[in-house]
Amino acid sequence: METVLMKAGEAAYEKAASLLLSGQVVGIPTETVYGLAADARDPEAVGRIFEAKGRPQDNPLIVHIARFDQLGEVAREVPEAALRLGEAFWPGPLTMILRRSELIPDAVTAGLDTVGIRMPSHPAAREIIARSCPLAAPSANTSGKPSPTSASHVYDDMKGRVPLIIDGGRCRVGVESTVVDMTGGTPRVLRPGAITEEMIAAVLGDATTDQATRVGLAEGEKPKSPGMKYRHYAPKAPVILYEGAPDDTFAAVRRDYTPDDGIICFDEYKAQYRALGFRRVWSLGPSWDHAGHSRRVFSVLRHFDATNAGRILAQCPREYGAGEGTVNRLRKSAGFQCVACTEKTYIGVTGMSGAGKSLFCALLAEGRDDVLALDADQVYHELLADPAGGLTAAILRAFPEADDHGAVDRAVLGRIVFNDGQKRAALNAMTHGAVLEKMKDIAAKSDRHYILLDVPLLFESGFDRACTMTVGLVTGRQSARKRIVARDSITEERASQRLGSQPTAAFYRRRCDLTVENTGSLDDLREAAAAFSAKYMPE
Ligand code: TXA
Ligand code: MG
Repeated sequence: METVLMKAGEAAYEKAASLLLSGQVVGIPTETVYGLAADARDPEAVGRIFEAKGRPQDNPLIVHIARFDQLGEVAREVPEAALRLGEAFWPGPLTMILRRSELIPDAVTAGLDTVGIRMPSHPAAREIIARSCPLAAPSANTSGKPSPTSASHVYDDMKGRVPLIIDGGRCRVGVESTVVDMTGGTPRVLRPGAITEEMIAAVLGDATTDQATRVGLAEGEKPKSPGMKYRHYAPKAPVILYEGAPDDTFAAVRRDYTPDDGIICFDEYKAQYRALGFRRVWSLGPSWDHAGHSRRVFSVLRHFDATNAGRILAQCPREYGAGEGTVNRLRKSAGFQCVACTEKTYIGVTGMSGAGKSLFCALLAEGRDDVLALDADQVYHELLADPAGGLTAAILRAFPEADDHGAVDRAVLGRIVFNDGQKRAALNAMTHGAVLEKMKDIAAKSDRHYILLDVPLLFESGFDRACTMTVGLVTGRQSARKRIVARDSITEERASQRLGSQPTAAFYRRRCDLTVENTGSLDDLREAAAAFSAKYMPE
């Protein structure tokens, strides 16, 4: 069979629709990954998908729709909660499991009474569905291989097996849709993706994630979703996944590397690996960039198939929030062969001045003997207060004007660096290293498992790379200003100035694994802290 590649556009949509309506299989772009589509109502057409992919017959397909009225055609009943979730996240990277209608044949659901339904947002997918019919479509890879995020990936896998592939560019999301089971009580995430459990819970009040997505199936456990039981996303070379704080996974990969290996890393470490002479180094992006990791993970995995790497050693992103989808795919590609690199749980807590970082840390530590809260500013001041300490000596050498009989005069030091960016950077380089080292030392000597690092400049200082989780406290500017004025007895104007020089809430939302909203009410924050520790800090 000849395989034609067409750029997305009118002609391509017409051609795709006519092939689909005549029972053929077409490779189509979606915002998550490319799909291998066929008429969902036609068992024979659907059978051709399984053939082209070499997919096990008992693994059901997702049905893609373009309009809400099609939901009632493919599902037997649509619970109120499903409707609300659809309104919140469709079109988009969310698949809901619902009871199937008579329209959907066994071939699609592998005989199950339920069906996965999703409304993709990619304009090409929407156009093609609108011009044809509901489409059954799994990811367009050969079964077991990493999913395709560009038309050329699909071509590599499906050349000669399908008549047409539509090129709609690189996929924006990069990992497959979140699959959530809506047939039981609490919505249950069966496959994590860009729509996180937290986002679903924010709409419906509650949601959980099936444990098998994190640790794989237990011996003899029956999968909630058939896809859970197959080896997935596997490049030719075996993958070994290093989990923990980025600095620790870097150290472990460096330790285990042999010249045969390929490396998946973060931007912050790329130059260091190269300087060590390591070859075949590919980055997922900055270590905090969950959206970037998700966009790149499959193409990076695929890349190694074109090299002769014997093994792939991968630094694993943090698994919280938007990171869950990528981590789930990497764990599956590694067959759950993971190396734990950080013994304790290091939670970096940051946010703008007055957002309530210290209060949040205090609430998390309250009444627990397994939690240690460390305040970076306080550790810094303690280091400076030690005249015999290395940091004091280094600072006085660089800033002799701040020498007050062998001690650092903080007021003078503050004035020196306040208006001089270069001097401030020099001081920061000295202090950040010393403070982080000191905090790690205190943590290592402590018998507590959860270490809270209260750090205003978590990312600017690079302390985020020592963390297994990062949390941003965000609050409205007005309430932040009020708290600073009360706390530091300064004028409204000074408080505004200080806030004006700081990142906005959007910065923390983008950078942190999770964000906590401080509404200004202590009761609310207490409740948020209780929910947070119940979920992320089990005793
Ligand atoms: O983003 C996506 O969802 C992509 C694009 C093409 O839309 N599609 C995709 O399909 O990833 P596929 O077939 O590769 O993955 C479907 C997953 C499988 O893990 C399957 O087991 C699960 O959804 N699934 C489908 N129907 C199900 C059902 N009725 N009950 C439980 N799990 C189901
Ligand atoms: Mg797939």
